[in-house]
Amino acid sequence: MRIKTFKKFFNKKKILITGHTGFVGSNLSIVLSLFGANILGYSLKKNYKGYLSNHPNFKKLIKTISGDILKINNFKKKIIKFKPEIIIHLASQPIVREAYKDIKGTYLTNVLGTIELFELIKKTPSVRQVLIFTSDKVYRNITGNILSEESKLGGLDPYSSSKSSQDILANSYKESFFKFTKNVTIIRAGNIIGGGDFDFTRLIPDLFLSINKNKKFILRNPNAIRPWQHIFDLINALLIIICKSQKKIKSNSIVFNVGPNKSSNIKVITLVKILKKNLKILNFGYKKKIKFKETKILKLSNIKIKRSFNWRPRINVFEALNLTNLWYKEFYKNPNKIFEFTLSQIKKYFKLL
Ligand SMILES: NC(=O)c1ccc[n+]([C@@H]2O[C@H](COP(=O)([O-])OP(=O)(O)OC[C@H]3O[C@@H](n4cnc5c(N)ncnc54)[C@H](O)[C@@H]3O)[C@@H](O)[C@H]2O)c1
Repeated sequence: MRIKTFKKFFNKKKILITGHTGFVGSNLSIVLSLFGANILGYSLKKNYKGYLSNHPNFKKLIKTISGDILKINNFKKKIIKFKPEIIIHLASQPIVREAYKDIKGTYLTNVLGTIELFELIKKTPSVRQVLIFTSDKVYRNITGNILSEESKLGGLDPYSSSKSSQDILANSYKESFFKFTKNVTIIRAGNIIGGGDFDFTRLIPDLFLSINKNKKFILRNPNAIRPWQHIFDLINALLIIICKSQKKIKSNSIVFNVGPNKSSNIKVITLVKILKKNLKILNFGYKKKIKFKETKILKLSNIKIKRSFNWRPRINVFEALNLTNLWYKEFYKNPNKIFEFTLSQIKKYFKLL
């Protein structure tokens, strides 16, 4: 889609984003604000200082309400007054390992939190589109076959099952309450990499932290296959979906997988080796005992979004790793300049220079 179209569509568009302080949300908020959108973010604050959302320039750019998603209805008046036309729901407990430790907390945030948000949406007449960000882990993925939007739902581990529940309840709200009034779009995204992620239990943030501290990087599940995509390709897909879904209210919820092309479905160890070749200094080993189960093979079909909207991933896994590497290098060298650096990467991708 053309940049002109994004600029025209998003200019002054009022968008509420939950989870805007995290990795995906902060990048998305910056991109949308560059296209002129008026954003209100609702999230818990991220404690680690390095998050883009803790940068003073981000705070100047994005209006924020800090709060738990379970309490979002306490801010009903403020949110209704803001008159959001679009809501993007990202706020979640997104870590597989954490969900094993705190199943109840994960379900409260991911499931009940989503219900709280939908209850607020029922009372907010300005809303026309709701995007619920679930995951590629919502599927009952036993065979390792490529997963399409028609594949059976039923995540097995606590995180995955909480995201399957989020997905099912989003569809239920559409069917029960918003049949003719609001579009509900469910986004099931594959693994996202790029700058601004500091969940240190994840591969990329953990790996760059090890490099920075000159520590041996310990790899778990080296043979797991994941659909790796760069954050900018994902955001581009979201922007296209939003623009294309605005005109008509559909009578059913719409589901899209957002993932890379097949060649980017690679093993964790392959990804680490690609990085090692670029970085030269990466020293890694393997974790022998894994205390929790993770899906071995996860491959996502992106045919539906390609056919529906002519979206294409523009960054392959090599370029994605290169951009990510450059970002973390800059972050550990010049943390104060990371906001500007992020802007330059975004502007280059979206041809805003
Ligand atoms: N990163 C990935 O590879 C990936 C892949 C597929 C789906 N997702 C989904 O994308 C969304 C964003 O993930 P992320 O990678 O940016 O994670 P993140 O941890 O960086 O961000 C999570 C966001 O949710 C907020 N949040 C968490 N608990 C909350 C609560 N109780 N109340 C209010 N806000 C709360 C955090 O403050 C933060 O803003 C999640 O829904 C996640 O499940 C992520």
